Amino acid sequence: MKVLVVGGGGREHALAWCLAASPLVDRLWCAPGNAGIAADADCVDIAADDVDGLVSFAVGQAADLVVVGPEAPLVAGLVDRLSDAGIPAFGPSAAAARLEGSKSFMKDLCRRHDIPTADYRVFTEGEIEAARAYVRATGAPIVVKADGLAAGKGVVVADTVAVALEALDAALLEGRFGAAGRTVVVEAFLAGPEISLFALADGRTVLPFASARDYKRVGDGDAGPNTGGMGAVSPHPLMTDALLETAMAEIIRPTIAGMAADGHPFRGVLYAGLVLTGDGLKVLEFNTRFGDPETQAVLVRLRSDLLPVLLAASEQALHTVDLRWRDEAAVTVVMAADGYPGSVTRGSPIAGLAGAAGQDTVVFHAATRQAGAGIVADGGRVLAVTGTGADVAAARTAAYARVDAIDWPQGFCRRDIAAGI
Ligand code: GLY
Repeated sequence: MKVLVVGGGGREHALAWCLAASPLVDRLWCAPGNAGIAADADCVDIAADDVDGLVSFAVGQAADLVVVGPEAPLVAGLVDRLSDAGIPAFGPSAAAARLEGSKSFMKDLCRRHDIPTADYRVFTEGEIEAARAYVRATGAPIVVKADGLAAGKGVVVADTVAVALEALDAALLEGRFGAAGRTVVVEAFLAGPEISLFALADGRTVLPFASARDYKRVGDGDAGPNTGGMGAVSPHPLMTDALLETAMAEIIRPTIAGMAADGHPFRGVLYAGLVLTGDGLKVLEFNTRFGDPETQAVLVRLRSDLLPVLLAASEQALHTVDLRWRDEAAVTVVMAADGYPGSVTRGSPIAGLAGAAGQDTVVFHAATRQAGAGIVADGGRVLAVTGTGADVAAARTAAYARVDAIDWPQGFCRRDIAAGI
């Protein structure tokens, strides 16, 4: 089969690495890919948000499946366009991707279908006074979210009312997030451990896939600003069979059923960001694609061939899938360029990537480029070094041993990913 993966980060490297191992895959492309992905797939110079270019390539190559990594092309309707062109794709339609692309859509769906989430109100540009009054009446901590996609920067967790009021002004008056922030969701802060849960759906059938813990802050001990994710451990150490069944019964299945009942059947991977509050599990956010870097820690544990699983999700055949996992833990440590999540300098050389034979590790590339005979950094999050082991401690030891063998003076990582578990 001929498969195109869309994207060029660590998540897409993990997807390409997994698909390259499938005996069913004859040709594998990744658009645009990166220097590490090039070892597993043929990289094609088409940007992940170039919907016309991607459709034209997939049609020209008669691709049997397109696997979409990032959210932007999903929200822009890539899967709809591929479907119109007769190309099967893994990922939701634009209408279903609103679960990630519009926070107010997601919250209203939860309200309509009794899915537990934080109390909230939605405000638009002309409603700044009402929004301010709501914030003052509710008090802090409180969360202000830009409604649309804002490159991970649209959420302010405000410890004080003053900070929340500033966030309202930034979004509704100053247009800091452009169109994405002309509507905001103001919601109660949910206290408790966060759990990333991935489930696959084909519109009707839903299958739990895997859980993971993401480390969002840039510094050890959760210090410093939020990032796209500095590391992950899978399975999530708090995820028991009973908690998984609660999440499926109270959140995942009602969401998939609600989307179908509302006329937007969801196909692809539903990534639920959950919080285990004192009042039970609540959904903090939905994403409509695999998480990054959680996917890197999830896919190294998958024993099943990934291709038939993704095909089944795109063909309403998930009921035929029996997922198999390795009985192991996995830990991913992200290596980022100095300055991340602020501005970074591209082009610093990275050596020591090869690793020793027999290591239980994989170095997924998130932002690298070939420069002559060498590899250089080409973005903020650059590598996702992943180790597996019989338990979390062994996986962690493997991951950090591999990190320590990489020679990249301009890079850094957190040293406490999966510590103390
Ligand atoms: N790790 C967070 C995300 O993928 O959105």
